[in-house]
Parts: sequence; C-alpha cells; structure tokens
Amino acid sequence: MSVSVENPPTAEDFATMLTMVSGFFVTRISATFADLNVAEHLAAGPLTAADIAVKEAADPGYTFRLLRAGVTLGLVTYADGRFASTSLLGTLRADAPNSLRHLAQAWTAPGHWGPWAALTDAVRAGASQAEAVLGCGIFEYFTKNADEGALFTKAVTDLSIPVIKEAVPVIDITGVRTVADVGGADGAFVLSLMAAHTSLRGTVLELPHAVPAAAAEADKRRMTDRFSATEGNFFEYVPPADLYLLKYILHDWNDEDCLKILRNCRQSLHPGGRVAIVEIVLGEATDPGIGALMDMNMLAMLRGRERELAEFDALLAEAGFRRTKLTHLQAPYAVIEARVDK
Ligand SMILES: C[S@@+](CC[C@H](N)C(=O)[O-])C[C@H]1O[C@@H](n2cnc3c(N)ncnc32)[C@H](O)[C@@H]1O
Repeated sequence: MSVSVENPPTAEDFATMLTMVSGFFVTRISATFADLNVAEHLAAGPLTAADIAVKEAADPGYTFRLLRAGVTLGLVTYADGRFASTSLLGTLRADAPNSLRHLAQAWTAPGHWGPWAALTDAVRAGASQAEAVLGCGIFEYFTKNADEGALFTKAVTDLSIPVIKEAVPVIDITGVRTVADVGGADGAFVLSLMAAHTSLRGTVLELPHAVPAAAAEADKRRMTDRFSATEGNFFEYVPPADLYLLKYILHDWNDEDCLKILRNCRQSLHPGGRVAIVEIVLGEATDPGIGALMDMNMLAMLRGRERELAEFDALLAEAGFRRTKLTHLQAPYAVIEARVDK
C-alpha cells in the first residue's frame, strides 16, 4: 500500500491524526478527574495537588502530574503552586445540570472499554464482541455488576436531560391517561412528562439493575402516588398503556429485536394509543454527523444500529404502526410518534 500521490497528507493532517490516535489519553484523564472528584474539590477555590491527594488517598506526585495534564487540556489552571477549576471542569461536577461526570466514568468502565477495545474484531466478524469480552451481553453484565449498571443508568440520564426538555412539550398526550417508559432507566423521561401533565399516571419497565433507580427518582420528585417501577423484559411483555415511550431503545437492537419490542407494544396498547420514539435520525452518508459515531457505539456494544427515517418507517409499518408526527430536536435527535395502522 502506498500513500496517494494526488492527495498526500499535510503536516496539519499529521497533527490532526496525532490528536485522534491519542484521544484515549483525554478520555481516561477526564474519567480520572471524575473518579478523584477534582471538580468537587476545586469548587470552593484553588488547592495544591497535595491537598487533593490527601482528600482522595492518592499519591501526591502522581496527582500533581495528572493535574498538570489537566492544565494542557484546559480542565484546570496553575498558579502559585495551586490548581484552580475552569468552567470546562465544571461539566464533570455531579451537581452540574447535564453533568458529564457519570458518562466519563461509564464509558471508561470495563463494560464499555472492553468491547470497544475489540472494535476491529467486531467489524471483521460483523458482530459486537461484548459477549466474547464480558462473558455475556452488556445488559446482563449490568445486572451482574450492579454498581456499573447504576453508573450507566445515571450516565444515560445525564446525557438525556437536554433531549427530554425538548421532547416533553412536543409529545401529543391527547386522550392519554397512562404512559409506560419502556426501558426507561431511572424514569427521568416519563416523570418529566408526568410533571408537565399532572393527570398522567406512569410506569417504567426495566431490568432489575435499573428498577431501584426508577423508584428512587420518583421518590425524589415526590411522584410515587402516580408512578410505579415494573421489573420485566420488553422482549416478553410490556404493561398496558395509552402511550409508550421508547427513548434510545430501538437503536440498541437489530430489526428482528425491534419488531419484537414494537409488536409487544402494539399488543398491549390501549385502543387509540400510540408510541413516541426518541432516537437519533441518521442523515445521508455524505454528511452523517455525530449520529454515525453513536452508531459505532451500538456496533461495538450491542446488536443495534442508528437508523435513517425510512428505516424507522419500515420497522413501524412491519410492526403494524404508522408514523403520524416527526419532530426534530437538537441534532441529531428526533421524536417519532406513531399510531396503530388500521
Ligand atoms: C440506552 S438505555 C436507554 C435508557 C432510557 N430510555 C434513556 O433514554 O435514558 C437502554 C435501557 O434499556 C434497558 N433494557 C435493556 N434490555 C431490556 C429488556 N430486555 N427489558 C427491559 N429493559 C431493558 C436497559 O436497562 C437500559 O436502561
């Protein structure tokens, strides 16, 4: 193989590629900042590396070197022997709105890191290597490793908050009394919809690892009187409802699996009911945007894929639904609402 003579890489290309291939340094450094609660420690003002090392029972010399790398990345600044927080570091604070702390930790935890390390094998084999690496699928792994499962639940919720804010006002709840958030993690979506419409009753259907988080979230929001967390498997059954929320669910699964989930929804749906799907809608391959990167997460971790609108329409039609509304949210997300096709 030789480098194309018509389009040789420039010095800038080499610099860009160096940033790309060392990207995992940045990923791991960010996660270690989160693990060591650096954002929380620096919230009250600048500290020395030794101060933080004492608080975290860490090695002071290594903590200094970590924080110095954080200066390079713009996470902290350094003056007079002390490190100070930047606004960028604030994104890793657990109490920041849309915090990225849990995501930084969840994507570097063994459940994600291991299958991603086998990405080349996945592409060669045409199948995620998660089972080969973890000994089971990711969701079973989360059930067996409850702490990492709970961390993942927090991470997807944090990531979801801006999308939920945009999705809630656009969802048509005419005639809806009961809502089931299918694979709803801690229930942030259905609880937000219920907060906007106080007549609604809601439930989350989830695997065992996420049920406690859903119950706790309803309790925190003082909404337990209108809410229940149901343990179950959406491939077997979904509880009856007027509206099903399917947010970031279909992208986890192949078409055959999606059809099982959608058909279970169709079977349990109250007459006149509908589904609201919140997903990335992929653009053309000429300009696929960030959705194509999330698609690699599906490829590495699961049997799923991100889809174009026509692919959602085809799935819905095959499961007996018809799309009735499409609302684009912040790119690349959209709400796809559908009714049973008579
Ligand atoms: C990508 S997360 C999306 C969570 C949530 N809907 C959101 O948007 O934040 C997928 C969720 O599906 C749940 N899940 C996976 N398999 C399931 C199954 N067979 N039955 C019920 N829930 C399942 C997982 O526990 C996880 O919380």
